[in-house]
Amino acid sequence: MEGEAAGLEAVRALYADHVTRQQAAWEEAMAEAQYDAVVVHAGSPLVSFLDDYHYAFRPNPHFLAWLPLTHHPESVLIVRPGHKPVLYYYQPDDYWHLPPTDPEPWWADHFEVRIEREPGEWHQGVPVGREAYLGDAPELEAEDDRNPPALLHRLHLARTRKTPYEIECMRVASRIGVRCHRAAEATFRDGGSEYDIHQAYLAAGRTDDAGLPYPSIVALDRHGAVLHYQERSRRAPERAGAFLIDAGATCHAYCSDITRTYARDEGEFAGLVEAMDVLQRKLCAATVAGTDYRELHLRAHGGVAEILADAGIVNCDAATTVATGLSSVFYPHGLGHYIGLQTHDVAGLIADASGREIPRPTGHPFLRLTRTLEAGNVVTIEPGLYFIDSLLEQWRSGPRRDLVNWDRVEALAPFGGIRIEDDVVVTEGKPENLTRDAFAAA
Ligand code: GLY
Ligand code: MN
Ligand code: MN
Repeated sequence: MEGEAAGLEAVRALYADHVTRQQAAWEEAMAEAQYDAVVVHAGSPLVSFLDDYHYAFRPNPHFLAWLPLTHHPESVLIVRPGHKPVLYYYQPDDYWHLPPTDPEPWWADHFEVRIEREPGEWHQGVPVGREAYLGDAPELEAEDDRNPPALLHRLHLARTRKTPYEIECMRVASRIGVRCHRAAEATFRDGGSEYDIHQAYLAAGRTDDAGLPYPSIVALDRHGAVLHYQERSRRAPERAGAFLIDAGATCHAYCSDITRTYARDEGEFAGLVEAMDVLQRKLCAATVAGTDYRELHLRAHGGVAEILADAGIVNCDAATTVATGLSSVFYPHGLGHYIGLQTHDVAGLIADASGREIPRPTGHPFLRLTRTLEAGNVVTIEPGLYFIDSLLEQWRSGPRRDLVNWDRVEALAPFGGIRIEDDVVVTEGKPENLTRDAFAAA
């Protein structure tokens, strides 16, 4: 926790520089897309159907890109070239809910803050000219120029190159996530249920579900084969042999996204986990500027195929395993994605400000990142190897069924699957592995 406190100090020290960089990036995008002002709405709470309770509030990420304000619906930011950004800070008189606290100088000093008591007062602050509106708040529905692609693509591309402040936030989010992961692993080793493990994770992070960057995946044994397993069984298996956890944390809305897989005992599955760990580390080390992420993804397929061949799970060599599409039966998702304010961060597929898409490699429909890596990108590296019944059954009913050693599959299927996921900062030189660094420091 001490490291986290120090990290938060570092975060604050970098904030002024972040706002300066944001202003410069936005001014460039606004000039190119020809806007005089951009109005960014934090968002409005959504009410569930026929009810008066709200869904968990997820703010507009373009608002969060400026401000560490995660519980601030109805606030609005107005950005103009050459002007300090104006923040309409919504702080209602509300005796049903606790209103936001007063603005804190460490962030507020960089804005012209106007306290807003009623939603919509911000309209008075919109300058005359051509303005764009960003967000999905119902209040924006009357505006013509909402979320214009020419502006959004430019802002999204800018978001792929993180500022020092953003990377520091992600270091802190990684340290918190790792603290939670260690508590989760201990609860698995103690024989806890998925529910118990999830509660231990939340407690270690001093958070609740709404504070997580995405719903945690907490999977014992066969559940590890469900890629986005969403249940949390209250019943502990008699003796779970495998544990896959994909869960993160946040710092000022910046995410970590971490997956670890544990085998309880020595043996074949533990050997596979170890082999996947070696492969994953190699891929992380290759996550350098100038690399086409699609190549990394295909390299991961080659690596998984080798592991399958070495373990005798397939009856052919790695090249055949890839060429026939068999590697995708065991590894049916992409290698990873950009990460930042969103776990699956924006702009992973676009070539340039036109929004033209960079195609995925044929046969890899779920890859979320097809760009060439640049310094300042933060990406995940998350190869997997799973025993997924439905995909295996499909293969078994096809012409190449003999390429699989079905006895080995049957023996390993009770362990579910393996995924190992780190968050990596791309630099001109050696990549910074936020996740491994956090585990090493823990
Ligand atoms: N946790 C979702 C993902 O790894 O992409
Ligand atoms: Mn991920
Ligand atoms: Mn993940």
